[in-house]
Amino acid sequence: MAKKKLKFKESVGIDIGSHSIKLVHLKKLHQGFKLLNYEIKSTVPEGVEYTLSDLSSDRYIPILSGMMRTMKINPKKIKHIVSSIGGENTSLKQIKTIFLPDEELESALFFEAKKHLPIGGSEMVLDYQVLSIEEKTNNMNILLAATTKDVLTEHSNILSGAEITPGIVDVESLAVANSFALNTVMEEGVYVILNLGAHKTNMVIYGPKAKFFARDISWGGFNITKDLMKKHNISFEEADKMKLEAGIVEEKKTEEKSMLALDISEKSTHEQIALEVKRSLRFYVKEAGNSDFRKILLIGGTAKLNGLVEYFAEQLNIPTEIYNPYANLEMPEKFKNKQDPQLALALGLAMRTE
Ligand SMILES: Nc1ncnc2c1ncn2[C@@H]1O[C@H](COP(=O)(O)OP(=O)(O)OP(=O)(O)O)[C@@H](O)[C@H]1O
Ligand SMILES: [Mg+2]
Repeated sequence: MAKKKLKFKESVGIDIGSHSIKLVHLKKLHQGFKLLNYEIKSTVPEGVEYTLSDLSSDRYIPILSGMMRTMKINPKKIKHIVSSIGGENTSLKQIKTIFLPDEELESALFFEAKKHLPIGGSEMVLDYQVLSIEEKTNNMNILLAATTKDVLTEHSNILSGAEITPGIVDVESLAVANSFALNTVMEEGVYVILNLGAHKTNMVIYGPKAKFFARDISWGGFNITKDLMKKHNISFEEADKMKLEAGIVEEKKTEEKSMLALDISEKSTHEQIALEVKRSLRFYVKEAGNSDFRKILLIGGTAKLNGLVEYFAEQLNIPTEIYNPYANLEMPEKFKNKQDPQLALALGLAMRTE
């Protein structure tokens, strides 16, 4: 986590997800950015059912290089390339410590991190940012980011395989928060951002003065396709098609029916996600003493699922919308009306200036 202002003319944000790679290429303007180009490319086999363990991380390299070529990005010429790591073995957490001078901070935080973060000891790689120092108590609020050497090595192997020199590497949930904070005029209160991917959902609670919270929920669009497969006894390909066309709107109707028939079978994915979000909100209210939730904002590919906004709004009782982080982004004519919440994280990466 760099803290200095960075100088650059163009930037590239690379979001390597389990389902697809999202790449955005921006030009820095005096104020804000201009979108030069973007691309979203799936990295999983089309239309056939797969499990994550079938997929090796090698598959990313040819796809990423291909995207760089078609977008005519020369990685040697662009100084500001930002990518992200996420999933298991990455973690981001706000903690409070007594005031410590710089020399002592790092080693003290290493011990703190072991207490707070679910990541194994000697393999842990740590980064931190001092958010504020409380005047009265002299306590420090610190954002701790941690991962393992293995996660970082695998990530750099993918980038260097595509002839990209790894630049800044952020934890996904931080990029999610940035994508929101850099494109919103915020009121007081707290905002809940859900980055709904294929195999997981990053949940971030963020507010200008609120305690930062992040966790991953281990369900996403892949599980929604599987739900449809089971429910309608159809193939993965048919279920995926049904998901993209109809979403979960039809589902809700059949759910009501099955409730009447007392068929209390397993919960569906969107129900599970809503329940986990609810649980985390309750935890946050207790831990941070703040329940001023203003909005739930959905980003990621699965944010586009038909019926999801309405479902979350109803279940969580907080105004919910799809979030398009394009406020500080000038869109050339050819991209007008192409705002896509699936690009939000990549935009958050490319837009960071410090
Ligand atoms: N219009 C749509 N309606 C519903 N789902 C969609 C739509 N477009 C894409 N998706 C789903 O979004 C998911 C991909 O989103 P995204 O690119 O955010 O995931 P990812 O970053 O690759 O995954 P993860 O973050 O879990 O590793 C897939 O499950 C895909 O089926
Ligand atoms: Mg993702």
